[in-house]
Amino acid sequence: MKYDIRSIAYDKVTVAPSILAADFGTLDADVAKVTAAGADLLHLDVMDGHFVPNLTMGPPLLSSLRKACTLCFDTHLMVSHPLFYTPVFAKSGADHITFHVESDDDPAEVIAAIKAANCTVGMSIKPKTPASALLPYLKDLDLILVMSVEPGFGGQSFMADQMPKVAEIRQMIRESGRQIHLEIDGGIDRKTVYEAVRAGANMMVAGTSVFRAADGMAAAIDGLHAATAELAI
Ligand code: DX5
Ligand code: ZN
Repeated sequence: MKYDIRSIAYDKVTVAPSILAADFGTLDADVAKVTAAGADLLHLDVMDGHFVPNLTMGPPLLSSLRKACTLCFDTHLMVSHPLFYTPVFAKSGADHITFHVESDDDPAEVIAAIKAANCTVGMSIKPKTPASALLPYLKDLDLILVMSVEPGFGGQSFMADQMPKVAEIRQMIRESGRQIHLEIDGGIDRKTVYEAVRAGANMMVAGTSVFRAADGMAAAIDGLHAATAELAI
């Protein structure tokens, strides 16, 4: 059974904890904890050591987590060949697949492959990629992911200079008349969330600030949800 990202609210701030910041030695327990703490979906960062200079998780990890986790698997493919990996990750439990427009494959072909795999479609752009790169594909997207760090590692500082691009994309979404989640990824915490939300993001990826919160995951997630008051959709 697939969990549909389109059934997740568009009119409140939602939180996708990135398990990259969890303890892989106790991953099952960490995922159970973050679910109980109020996560809206689970963000899975897949890196191939080629598109980005880091290696993270593969299909067997998703399959293992899928057995116990009931959250929507928000799979972020930071790989050079999303066309090859889409069916593999869909089979392993991905519900939603986001790929990078900067990857080596033809974006239209990747979109078709994600749909054929019965997943919802996300497209991500790196900090130096303009919003206009998304335009030809807008009609097929369920989610747009703006990177607020250079992809590759957790724990980096939030790039506030990406906020005008977030605002520009929010305007593109309004003009499209479609429901598209606008997700932001990198350096999101209880402070930076307000900049992201005021610019027009509605879905927050957060690794370090959730899994390593000094006052616990529930307080961290509550702190992100609180930004709903300033949502600019
Ligand atoms: C970076 C990843 C992020 C990262 C976020 O390439 O896509 O999802 O794990 O981590 P924090 O929240 O620690 O910046
Ligand atoms: Zn990510």
